[in-house]
Amino acid sequence: MAQLSAIQIDITTLDVDAIVNAANNSLLGGGGVDGAIHRAAGAELLAECRTLGGCKTGEAKLTKGYRLPAKYIIHTVGPVWHGGSQNEEQLLASCYRNAMSLARQAEAKSIAFPCISTGVYHFPKQRAAEIAVKTVQEEVAKDSNIIQVYFACFATEDLQTYQMLLNHH
Ligand code: AR6
Repeated sequence: MAQLSAIQIDITTLDVDAIVNAANNSLLGGGGVDGAIHRAAGAELLAECRTLGGCKTGEAKLTKGYRLPAKYIIHTVGPVWHGGSQNEEQLLASCYRNAMSLARQAEAKSIAFPCISTGVYHFPKQRAAEIAVKTVQEEVAKDSNIIQVYFACFATEDLQTYQMLLNHH
C-alpha cells in the first residue's frame, strides 16, 4: 500500500517521478505554483506545452520535467470556485483521478500534488483537501506501482489540514 504524506515544501524542489501542476486551460503558464514550475523547469517546458492544445478543466496532460528534479510534470486544470453549484467538487476530484491515471501510465512510483484550485481559483481549502485525500486513496488502491504520494503544502495552514485528514485514516 502506498504511503500518503503531507509536507511543507516548494513542490519544484521535490525529487519524485512526477509533480502535478495546477495549471490553466491554456497550459501556457501563469502565477502561483504554475509560474514557479515553469520558472524552475525552464523554457523547454513552455515549448512542449505549446504543442498540447491546452487542457480542459478536470483533465490532465503529461510533459517532461526538464530542469526539475522530477522526471515528469502532470498538468491539470482545477475548477474556479463559483459557490459550489457548477460541479466544482466533481471537477476537482477528476483532476486528482486523471493525474493519478497518467502517473500510472508513466509507471511513476512517486508523485507530489499541490493544493489544486485553492489559490487564485478560491476553492475552499478544507473541502479541497478532503476531496484530494479521498480521491488519491481510492486511486492508490488500484495502483500497485505508486509507493509514495506527497501533498506538497505551501502554507502551514494547509499542512495542518492535510495532517489532520491523513491521521484520521
Ligand atoms: N509549491 C507548492 N505549492 C505552491 C507553490 C509552490 N512552489 N506556489 C504556490 N503554491 P495557485 P489555483 C500553492 O493559485 O488556485 C495560476 O496562475 C498555493 O499556496 O497556484 O489552482 C494558473 O496558471 C496554493 O495552495 O493555483 C492558473 O491560472 C496552491 O499552490 C491558476 O493560477 C494553488 O494555488 C490556478 O489557480
